[in-house]
Amino acid sequence: MAETLLEELQRYVGFTAADGEALRALHPVAEPQFQRISDVFYDRILKHEGARKALEGGESQVGHLKHTLVAWMDELLRGPWDQPYFERRARIGRKHVAIALPQHYMFGAMNVLRQELNAVIDRAYLDRPEQLRAARVALGKILDLELAVMLHTYREDLLSQQARSERLSTFGQLIGSIGHELRNPLGVMESSLYILKGRVTEDERARKHLDRIGEQLGIANSIIKDLLDMIRDRPLVAGRLHLREVLESAVDQLQLAVALEPVAQLPEVEGDPSQLRQVFVNLLDNAAHAAGPAGWVRIEGAVEGGSVAVAIEDSGPGVEETVRPRLFEPLITTKQKGIGLGLALVKRIVERHGGTISYEPRGRGARFVVRLPKA
Ligand code: HEM
Repeated sequence: MAETLLEELQRYVGFTAADGEALRALHPVAEPQFQRISDVFYDRILKHEGARKALEGGESQVGHLKHTLVAWMDELLRGPWDQPYFERRARIGRKHVAIALPQHYMFGAMNVLRQELNAVIDRAYLDRPEQLRAARVALGKILDLELAVMLHTYREDLLSQQARSERLSTFGQLIGSIGHELRNPLGVMESSLYILKGRVTEDERARKHLDRIGEQLGIANSIIKDLLDMIRDRPLVAGRLHLREVLESAVDQLQLAVALEPVAQLPEVEGDPSQLRQVFVNLLDNAAHAAGPAGWVRIEGAVEGGSVAVAIEDSGPGVEETVRPRLFEPLITTKQKGIGLGLALVKRIVERHGGTISYEPRGRGARFVVRLPKA
């Protein structure tokens, strides 16, 4: 059987059964110190202006994290250092990656634990040099292994980002050429359809089918347009504008009945009206589809410091938890007809305006908030 990463790392640091025993023997001696060590660990982070930024949850978060670190030390010295252990450690590493904690803090942080636990060993085994040495060696190995696992999760993330961007760049080139090639045949179909429609006037069923062909051509054209917009990055033609006007034209285009009073008094923003219209057309179209004919779509507006925020909310089922982290990536879709470019395009356009888009549900339905800088 192929060697697992854990086995490989254990072999590299030379972690043996004897090291496991030395750690287990150390556990009852060190346990009374876990809480204190955890305090030292987080005090060190809180003293550093850069590292402290990661702890934005304030005191209650630190209180919770201190408990998790005590549990972490407990497992560190008790083992078993098997595959489930390794997977739990990798999950912790991924949490650090998820909050974008810079990996260079890991060395210093691990060293705090190393120093504190070594000091415990030195005091406990003062008159037992053999045990002292065995415990220090074992601790060194297991902490190296922990650090390796932690850095491995950063590498994992980097590789997956790289693979994603390579996929997108190949995808972009392919899409560009396919998109252009498809435009011609679709154009020919449209003009032939136009001619046919003029000729088929009597046969009701035939006319219905021609209408359906027309609708489907419209869908195909809009997919191609989205794809080309996505890879093309049209330059912004920006000026001062009222979002109310942009929203009004998006609502008109989709023929929706949505109240615009909540955005009537919003201050101006700097932006490209046609690209921002595309943002709201995509968001409102998604919302209308999700809500269905019996549901509702709502627009809200607010000024938040230097930003103007517009929320699009619907009464549909909302976005599943599992999809949320990748909601704005291309090719992620929950719709049967879509290919997952709408929200990716929205995000790209909003960010090019110096704004943000986020998913902030309140209860059941979906709710997207676009924030743009005030002009
Ligand atoms: C050797 C280093 C470290 C160890 C052993 C460690 C351990 C842990 C553990 C056990 C958790 C709990 C994960 C869970 O909820 O399941 C955690 C989460 C967290 N750690 Fe660390 N940590 C280390 C370094 C750091 C550093 C240097 C910082 C900040 C500068 C930090 C900030 C955080 C934060 C903010 C979370 C919460 C993440 C979330 O749930 O959103 N950690 N860490």
